[in-house]
Amino acid sequence: MALVGRRVLLIVAGGIAAYKCLDLIRRLRERGARPRCVLTRGGAQFVTPLSLAALTEDRVYDDLFSLTEDNGMSHIRLSREADLVVVAPATADLMAKMATGLADDLASTVLLASDKPILLAPSMNLFMWNHPATQANLATLRRRGVLQVGPGAGDLACGEVGDGRMAEVGDIVAAIEAHFGAAGPLAGRRALVTSGPTHEPIDPVRFIANRSSGKQGHAIAAALERLGAAVTLVSGPVALPDPPGVAVVKVETAVEMKEACFAALPADVAVCAAAVADWRVAEQAQEKRKKVEGAPPPTLALTPNPDILAGLAAAGGRRPRLVVGFAAETENLIGHAQAKLARKGCDLIVANDVSPAAGTFGGDSNTVHLVGPDGVESWPALPKEAVAARLAEWIAARLAAVVEDR
Ligand code: PMT
Repeated sequence: MALVGRRVLLIVAGGIAAYKCLDLIRRLRERGARPRCVLTRGGAQFVTPLSLAALTEDRVYDDLFSLTEDNGMSHIRLSREADLVVVAPATADLMAKMATGLADDLASTVLLASDKPILLAPSMNLFMWNHPATQANLATLRRRGVLQVGPGAGDLACGEVGDGRMAEVGDIVAAIEAHFGAAGPLAGRRALVTSGPTHEPIDPVRFIANRSSGKQGHAIAAALERLGAAVTLVSGPVALPDPPGVAVVKVETAVEMKEACFAALPADVAVCAAAVADWRVAEQAQEKRKKVEGAPPPTLALTPNPDILAGLAAAGGRRPRLVVGFAAETENLIGHAQAKLARKGCDLIVANDVSPAAGTFGGDSNTVHLVGPDGVESWPALPKEAVAARLAEWIAARLAAVVEDR
């Protein structure tokens, strides 16, 4: 039911994957959505306006300077009349225009004038996708809250194999449904989640890291999103796909993670599941440190990293209503978690055993204990997705109670 009556403005840009839009429109309409199309000049090389018009049963918009359209104001109206703007395929060129604020055709002008959430389904050659310019543009867009689905890896139309394949139509529909799944108990709420490790550079080639895979944090972001929250996931380096419908900000260091977290405020709830390095190297070498024959091994001087969880909990008027931290311990689990709850000023600590025998780091299951001011609630060993789903329900109930208390 999530899509019934939803107005989806679909921008079709110039990529070979444009042909998949025809199926996307069909599937959106089957689910009760009302798609409407903007076609770029490049897009028209791959699909015809006639096909799009026939499938949407609406006209197709392609001209920025059409004087027959609202005195040339269709770029404003199209976004105002949409609930969500979907760009599929999102080409490197169109993402670059979005990142820099260029508006030289109807599609880019609609995107610049848009006041609505935007979902990108990137599609391009793998070298174009991996190019630092494309990745930098994408990072800028994500920081602005633009949503993304895909790309996947596989055979590309150009004959090469790798990243850059537009998400399958089913996955795009799922991401759109997830966005509108706002029927859930967290509808209208904003959530911030941290996940994964941080990498603290020693020199340009070496870093200090830890064993976090991001599985637990990413699962929490996905679970909150499924309950209807608008989620920003700030992630350290992980080898996981981005959860659909979640705005992902990728960082490396604890300092970058802190900046990204504060840039994502305001939020109703923050969940800090990242394994943030407590220290970084005081003086990062600009060149690779060399081994000097006969000299003693170097000593690394460390300096403390900012405590993101404690910072969010002490953020005054910007403090999320609910601040949830984790405690990764190898002994005296509950005792250390209670001390962290008090020291960091958060509302709940999720304690988990990270000794090697427990297999929590990188594993698929977790045994957690919810340590709050009123006591401890222990859950059985569960898949990380199930821990995430239960925690998301717990958060939804707690947020509802906070609002009722006021
Ligand atoms: O990623 P996985 O492989 O799925 O593993 C999941 C996990 C074990 C990483 C996860 O469940 C977990 O326990 N995350 C927290 C890891 C951690 O750093 O715990 P800590 O006890 O050192 O830190 C306590 C809390 O302070 C955490 O919420 C942490 O995110 C936060 N912190 C710590 C240091 C710092 N400088 N800033 C922080 O925000």
